[in-house]
Order: sequence, then structure tokens, then C-alpha cells
Amino acid sequence: MSRLIVVSNRVPDPDRAPAGGLAVALQAALHDRGGIWMGWSGKSCGEDEPGPLAFQQQGSITYALSDLSERDLSEYYNGFANSVLWPLCHYRIDLTDFARRDAQGYFRVNRFFAQRLLPLIQEDDLIWVHDYHLMPLADELRRLGVRNRIGFFMHIPWPAPDVYLTLPMGARLLQSMTAYDLLGFQTENDAANFRECLQRGELATRRAGETDFVDTTGRHFQVGTFPISIDTGNFARLACQGVRNPTVRKFRATLGEQQLIVGVDRLDYSKGLVQRLNGYRRFLETQPHWAGHVTYLQITPKSRSGVHEYDSLQREVAELAGHIGGTMGRLDWAPMRYVNRAFSQQVLACIYRMANVALVTPLRDGMNLVAKEYVAAQDPEDPGVLVLSRFAGAAAELGPGALLVNPYDEDAIAQAITQAVSMPREERQRRHARMMEGLTHNDVFHWCTDFLGRLAPSQVLPLKGPPN
Ligand code: G6P
Repeated sequence: MSRLIVVSNRVPDPDRAPAGGLAVALQAALHDRGGIWMGWSGKSCGEDEPGPLAFQQQGSITYALSDLSERDLSEYYNGFANSVLWPLCHYRIDLTDFARRDAQGYFRVNRFFAQRLLPLIQEDDLIWVHDYHLMPLADELRRLGVRNRIGFFMHIPWPAPDVYLTLPMGARLLQSMTAYDLLGFQTENDAANFRECLQRGELATRRAGETDFVDTTGRHFQVGTFPISIDTGNFARLACQGVRNPTVRKFRATLGEQQLIVGVDRLDYSKGLVQRLNGYRRFLETQPHWAGHVTYLQITPKSRSGVHEYDSLQREVAELAGHIGGTMGRLDWAPMRYVNRAFSQQVLACIYRMANVALVTPLRDGMNLVAKEYVAAQDPEDPGVLVLSRFAGAAAELGPGALLVNPYDEDAIAQAITQAVSMPREERQRRHARMMEGLTHNDVFHWCTDFLGRLAPSQVLPLKGPPN
């Protein structure tokens, strides 16, 4: 079996237990095949050029990490990746900053990663590149003579062609992506948008009745849908075991008989936090008898503080949360708690299990794994209700069991909260069972096996779970 090389901007800390299902699954795949995980170290080397890669060995996995200079971080990470591609792919053309200088930095850092990776690649290695930071990486590797099978998975949405085509460097970037052998997307809608961009740009033709494309040089590549998932079994176990956790027990005691409504999101404008908080306020205004009987906990770790929009959002959401507390609260009741920090997987799993309702209402999201984790964490006998945005990738799978909402419609959010807090147990059980059925079948190991099986069809690898 070939070795695997995973390349992503963020790499899990080799010294810590992986925090999420994606890291667990990729580490399991790397562990079985042996291989390398390459990416950014998370550190800056200031004004200097980055030194050689730092290697760290863990069993059969080699971590190969590179620092980036302040200029790289400003142009590639804060610049083109997070101020152009991120807003564009989340349909926020209004926030997209099309600075050409940053685009050059983005291509330069991709070239740099390719040059650093080149000496590590062996003839049969499979290479799997992740996410919007590294879209042109395969093209840079091909220019250096790499002929290995290279796959790409896009974790965030691929926008409608009319949105994508506003990007000045769009054609060049799209052209570079035809250098992959397999391009994977979260939903059918994303894959269809990507295919249409290719066809409108006349960069590739699709052969009638077949799934693959042929680019202008005659190379074949495939475009497919691979909805990412979680380590469902492990997450359900964590949620059951964590009831003894002291942090969770203390929190439980503060709730009394109140129903708990929870939201967990990175602080990001794509998450629809302002509309969600306004939806909750509308719920309290229109259903005043619920005052004193519900608490809304919004957990929102800060992120990407180097990008201007994130700082202003922090002020806006904090102000709104304070306003709801100030105007709706009573001496003996606080309607909401807004917390800007991250919690361990175990604490989150328990909070999900005790929450009667989860609000997952992004304006646009590639998948949204919080929605899946919330479902996996429930007690099947007395499950909570998921209120889910129809614009999250997860809606394609969880739609029939969740309460789907338009995340821009604050009245619809208020109505969904009313329906969720009053839903009879039998209906909750029925909805939960439908969602859980899909999650049991499509866990993150299935996702990983499916992608690698398509990238290298002769080497099907059934991944059963994390290494012991
Ligand atoms: C999204 C992206 C990931 C990214 C994560 C956190 O989930 O798809 O690639 O790592 O956000 O963002 P950050 O900028 O902190 O890496």
C-alpha cells in the first residue's frame, strides 16, 4: 500500500491528543499506511525567510512543519486566504478584498510549500491536499515534475459561478486546480457549482455520461462529493462519560429546571451570530412566558484576529449579547451567557447532551460539524432538537430530522426555537433517530476511506477507527 502525504495549512499539535474527528481520521489513515503530515507550524519567523522544515516523528507518522514570515502571513493567510477566498466562498462579495499583492503572496507561499515537500515525496506516495489555503499546490508540484496521484478536498463551500467569477485571479486559480486527479466537495451543490465554473471558463470538458473531466491538455481528473463527518461512536461515548466531569456538573447545577439552548461557533461572520441572537430576542419578546425557563449559552472562541472584520464582529456580538441581558434579564434570571473561549471535546460533548436545543444557523457553511456532534451526543430516549440553517452543508444529510430555518429570517429562528422548546418527546425521538441513522453509517472514517478509495481505486483501505 502506498504511503500517504497529507498537506494542510493547520496541522494538529503532534504532542497533544487530536481535538477533532478530522485529525483523528487522517491520523488513522497515516498510521495505517505510514506517511507525512505537512503544513504551517502556527508560528511566525518574523521578517526572516522561513528556515528548514522541522520534523517530528510519532509512530509511523512524520510531521513536517514550516514557520511562515510576517509577510507570508499577511499576504497568504490573513490576506488572500482569509480576506478574499473565505468571504467569497461564503457568498460575502461585499467583504472580499481583491488586493493583487496578496494574490501573489498566496501563489508564492503555495510554491514554497511545494518546493519544501518535493524532496520528501516517493514515487508511489498518494498526496491529499486540504482546503482553500492550498488550492494551487498540485499545479506547483506538477511544475516541479511530480507525477503522483494528488487529491484535493475543499472543506468550505464552492460558490455559485456568478459569485466565483467576480474574483480577478479566478481563472488562473481554477486552471491550477485541474492539476489534481480528484477534487472533493462537501455537497452536490458545491460540486455542481465547481463543475459549472470549469465549463464556463472552458477549462475542461465533461465526457458525456461520465464523471470525469478532461482538461485542455488531455489530462483526466474527477470531481466528486464527499460529505465530511465526525467520529460518531467516540463522540457519543464522550457525551455519556462526561457527566462526572466537575466543570460540567457545576454548570448543570446553575441551570436548575431551565431548558438549555446552546450555540457553539468560532467567532466568524459566516456563522450568522447577529441574526441568531436577534432571533432569540424575538423569541423572548413574542413568548414572554418562557422568561425564567430557558437559558441560551453561546460559546464563541475568537478567531483570525489579524483580519479587520473579525475584530468589529467581536464588538458587535458582545454588544448585542449585553443588550439582550440588559433589556430582557431579571434580578433572578439571565437570559443568555456569551463566552469567548474554547472548551475540550469532552466538556462540549456533555454540554450538547444536556442542551434541549442547539442553534446551528450559519449564513453559509461547508458542512458544520457542531450540528453532527450535537446529534451524536444526545440521549436517544430523551434527545434534544437541532435548529439548522438550510445553508449549512449538513442540511443535505440532517434536513429531515432537524428544524430547518432560513438563517437570515429572525422571525423564523424565533418560531423554530418556540417549536423546539415545546416539542413532544416522541417527535424528538423520531427526528433524532432519522439523523443518527445517517451519522452511524457516514462517520469520518467512512469519509476518509471513500475519498482515498476514489483517489487510488486499486488500494481500498477500510479504516475502522483510530489506532489503539
Ligand atoms: C475552517 C477551515 C479550516 C480552518 C478552520 C479554523 O474550518 O475550513 O481550514 O483551519 O476554519 O480557521 P483558522 O484560520 O484558525 O485555521
